[in-house]
Amino acid sequence: MTPLAQTPQWQALAAHRDALAGKHLNEFFAADAQRFARLSLRCGELLADFSKQRLTAETLGLLVRLAEARDLAGFLRRMTDGEAINATENRAALHIALRAERPYRAAGKGVLPEVIATRSRMRELAGAIRSGEWRGSGGAPINAVVNLGIGGSDLGPRMAAQALGEYADPKLTVRFVANIDPAEFADTVRDLDPARTLFIVSSKTFTTQETLANARAARAWLGDADPARHFLAVSNNVAAAQAFGIPAENCLAMPEWVGGRFSMWSAIGLPLACSIGMDAFEELLAGAREMDEHFLSAPYAGNLPVVMALVGLWNIDFLGAESLAVIPYAHRLGLLPAYLQQLEMESNGKRVTLGNEDVGCATAPILWGMAGSVGQHAFHQLFYQGTRLTPIDFVVPVGDAGPEQEALVANALAQSAAVMKGKTLEEAKAQLIVAGKTEAEAARLAPHLACPGNQPSTTLLMPRLAPRTLGSLIALYEHKVVVQGCLWGVNSFDQWGVEHGKQMARELLPKMLTGEGEFDASTAGLLAAIRAWLKA
Ligand code: F6P
Repeated sequence: MTPLAQTPQWQALAAHRDALAGKHLNEFFAADAQRFARLSLRCGELLADFSKQRLTAETLGLLVRLAEARDLAGFLRRMTDGEAINATENRAALHIALRAERPYRAAGKGVLPEVIATRSRMRELAGAIRSGEWRGSGGAPINAVVNLGIGGSDLGPRMAAQALGEYADPKLTVRFVANIDPAEFADTVRDLDPARTLFIVSSKTFTTQETLANARAARAWLGDADPARHFLAVSNNVAAAQAFGIPAENCLAMPEWVGGRFSMWSAIGLPLACSIGMDAFEELLAGAREMDEHFLSAPYAGNLPVVMALVGLWNIDFLGAESLAVIPYAHRLGLLPAYLQQLEMESNGKRVTLGNEDVGCATAPILWGMAGSVGQHAFHQLFYQGTRLTPIDFVVPVGDAGPEQEALVANALAQSAAVMKGKTLEEAKAQLIVAGKTEAEAARLAPHLACPGNQPSTTLLMPRLAPRTLGSLIALYEHKVVVQGCLWGVNSFDQWGVEHGKQMARELLPKMLTGEGEFDASTAGLLAAIRAWLKA
């Protein structure tokens, strides 16, 4: 296959980028009164405004041609046909099937019966736990659920449980432990009662070092309690869960054909279902399904995930953006950037194509961010006057009216407008004169107040933060990642780099205290310092 950057469609985009060079977003708006209407899209309750991106309808047309040239449609067909598009692990990537109502097949076998069976088991368990029917081995009803998992077995349900805190059952505490640092486990269980706590060991492989360490810590903390009353497992490796001591009837399956970071819709979502109830969980699935149906049917130019993917690729590969800031203007969406970090960076932080060639262009951005308006008082300064191009996704649930909520939403819109518009030197000077400065003082200070603006952003607006809108939002980002992976030609579904790091840790651990082994000089020096401290 022709390397992406050598295709005529790419060359056309590069020429178009050069023709647009030097244009300010303010000029784009001045030139087109219909810009918002032209460059905003809706799906269900989500409105995505791309008009503050540094592009035109012509740019989008050229990007769509790139997607067509890379046979995005064929790739999506293979994905939804359950082909092993995760070619390095010989697996399908059928996360869509987890929220579908129509039958999908993986490896020639229908998956819907398994999906429905797992969902009804989740309903039974979440119901029994929430109603107090599920009792600890001493007979007391469970009042706390603690999920032990990491990465895709933690971030999705953790993010969503916080996001949907308003829907949580106040009688049930739901918490998450991911880190192998024993401090996280200790802090999480400090005020919990072992007799009334249920652990969910969530691990697709049931081999992950951090999760197994936390599962062992939980077993020790529970003392003599019967594991059958205090442990559930979600895994694709039920034999290992049983070997750990969790009976088969307490194990929920996680299918082979779903990747960890795409799995919050599976039984990995059980802690979330315990927190918000299975009806609300199914609403989340319905929101995702609505986005799936739009994604699989809308023409590219009006397809929200496709356009979002193309806009991201434009920023990364044609405008040179290295990062993507995601700023949710909702305290409860504070974990969204962390969740998206795994989704985007573990999926598309790749450099080799599936054809074993160098990808030849930049891939996944460094994704970062935190809840607004808190970030305004920390890092927004760099958006205004720093030297970097920093695309931003503003995620804004409008919420119920009320002065504070209105102020939050106003802040979001003000930030996206201000980083775009900027402030000219003349405006800065005039502002200083109005504030009583002399002409000379104003001239000296104005360069420090001026802001170039022109920072591109997308605003994702929704009426409220509810299970359905959250489902649509997360599915939107999933599809965006898949589309970008297809265009770059990388495998969005493996993570061999992470495996390399895990292997290094496994090798280093037994040698840490002995000092044996061949290490680079830096690692050897650090190990020597650690041994000296431990001895002292
Ligand atoms: O961090 C690497 C990773 O393999 C992720 O892809 C995965 O979500 C996480 O570890 C946890 O894996 P498991 O669910 O098998 O414990």
